[in-house]
Amino acid sequence: MCGIVGYVGNKQVLPILLQGLRDLEYRGYDSAGVAVLDNGKIDRVREVGKVDKLSQKLEGKKLPGTIGVAHTRWATHGGVTEFNAHPHIVDGRMAIVHNGIIENYRELKEKIQDKNYESQTDTEVLAKWIYQNYKGDLVQAVKDALPGIRGTYGLVVMHADHPHQLVAARLGSPLAVGIGENEFYIASDVTPMLPFTKRVTFLDDGEIASINSELKIFNLRNEVISKNITEIDWDQAKAQKGGFENFMLKEIFDQKEVFEDALRGRIDMEEGTAKMGGLNLTEEEMRKVKRIMIIAEGTARHAGLIGKYAFERLANIPTEVDFSSEFRYRDPIVNKDTLVFVISQSGETADTLMAAREAKRKGGQVRGIVNVVGSTIARETGAGTYIHAGPELAVASTKAYTNMTAVLLLYALQFGRLKHTSLATGQRMLQSLLEISEKMNEILKQNEEIKKIANIYKDYKNILFIGRGVNYPVALEGALKLEEISYIHAEGLAGGALKHGPLALVSKDVPVVAILTKNQLYEKMKSSIQEVRARGARTLIIATQGDEEAKEVADEIIYLPKTMELLEPLLNTIPLQLFAYHVSVALGRDVDRPRNLAKSVTVE
Ligand code: M6R
Repeated sequence: MCGIVGYVGNKQVLPILLQGLRDLEYRGYDSAGVAVLDNGKIDRVREVGKVDKLSQKLEGKKLPGTIGVAHTRWATHGGVTEFNAHPHIVDGRMAIVHNGIIENYRELKEKIQDKNYESQTDTEVLAKWIYQNYKGDLVQAVKDALPGIRGTYGLVVMHADHPHQLVAARLGSPLAVGIGENEFYIASDVTPMLPFTKRVTFLDDGEIASINSELKIFNLRNEVISKNITEIDWDQAKAQKGGFENFMLKEIFDQKEVFEDALRGRIDMEEGTAKMGGLNLTEEEMRKVKRIMIIAEGTARHAGLIGKYAFERLANIPTEVDFSSEFRYRDPIVNKDTLVFVISQSGETADTLMAAREAKRKGGQVRGIVNVVGSTIARETGAGTYIHAGPELAVASTKAYTNMTAVLLLYALQFGRLKHTSLATGQRMLQSLLEISEKMNEILKQNEEIKKIANIYKDYKNILFIGRGVNYPVALEGALKLEEISYIHAEGLAGGALKHGPLALVSKDVPVVAILTKNQLYEKMKSSIQEVRARGARTLIIATQGDEEAKEVADEIIYLPKTMELLEPLLNTIPLQLFAYHVSVALGRDVDRPRNLAKSVTVE
């Protein structure tokens, strides 16, 4: 969490910093601040709240200068106040922005001579610690300070004595450096630099960057490291709202297009299989995989649950799905015959990253399924697959979920074809996958209709979502989407589990959203819906086009095109995303930046 931006070059820095903060606001939006160095003097402006408020505060103020740092905060240590906002400045001479947590800040405080603190943050302690180590060389100060620090950091410092230099360091919190013409950008992810350069290098843990007229990267042993430059192919336009009210709606509509990107080059129709390059396993090795584990959090975990159905049905491989945060703290049984998929949109989720390391340590074959190119999980797993969803900026994940699901389905098919899935089934599945984006389009055309339905449900305080089989994860995802952006309490349940407890919650005040598409569990699902209707619940039904019978159990109904059962989540989730979106808008919520949340959760 927290977004960092820095720039050194020839351009006026303030507009770059402010736009960069807007691009990174998804990482946290409790407060924001900028510091600009000019003529040996650092000017700083900070404000509680979102970047727009900071921008208003800056109106009429002149902060000229071509070097600066900025930060958007998701509070960990210390409340949401201007004093706690970054950048922190020591002695008017050195500014710092920091993402992460300094665990031994109390011990450090004992060693720091300057005892005057304006904030309650660990970052101010870190700032003073680096400053105390400064003896005229800023890189050396950071190098000398870091061994004394325990915790995580992505940090950038700027010093009044070094008007053309930024120094950055990373341990656990991401930092990317963009390389332009006689200018450098540094940020928590590549989005702020995309309008200016596509040439980017990523700092790894334990690395320190000195950025002035050239970029030099050192490790903690003080050796200069040569780094790969990655050409980022994300289209900047894809990171903009493109005429939509906000990012979430745009990203929901993006799905029909980016879904095709997830399939591109990965389909072998003749052999009825998928060609997933990222496993680095021979066919023989793939046949030897005895177990699959999928580790992820939130929406990524829901995609993983769909993957479980697919691996077990198509490939007959026992598959477990775990919360990354739980995996690490139990004693998971992982060995060389276990293939571990870690799934993450951001590729930076701390729980998932730690779980991936733990799985590796235990001898599992760990592969990433990740969206953000060059992110830590992508790099650390070394092998795996990018989902090609493009930049996803709304806190609520939508298109990444769809593309994670697509990638898992393709992997399941590939394993299945090496085992018992027939050529005909493989080809039928691929054909159905190729038809999905057009079907998504048909669903998206019902946006206005779904908006009307959302208005009927917006004032309920509790809403249940039910599904069975492959639509159980869809129910979980529908509930998560609704609660995170509308703040309505929502729960996803397996239809069959209702009568074992949750049915007690059902009444006319607790409506139920049910996924009743035409599949092998149709009749069972219908019974579950009848159970809730008998208790007075209003029901919104997701049904298959042409199913007139479904109307019998519906107060409201949304019809979707038919597809193969395993592929249903790719379609059935979309109306739930739109439903959550419109409820949230109707309630006047900040859809893209819901309270208390951040897009990538880089702390445990
Ligand atoms: O970046 P990741 O996919 O690792 O993020 C995992 C979860 O934090 C994320 O899916 C979260 O639940 C979303 N806000 C859901 O919309």
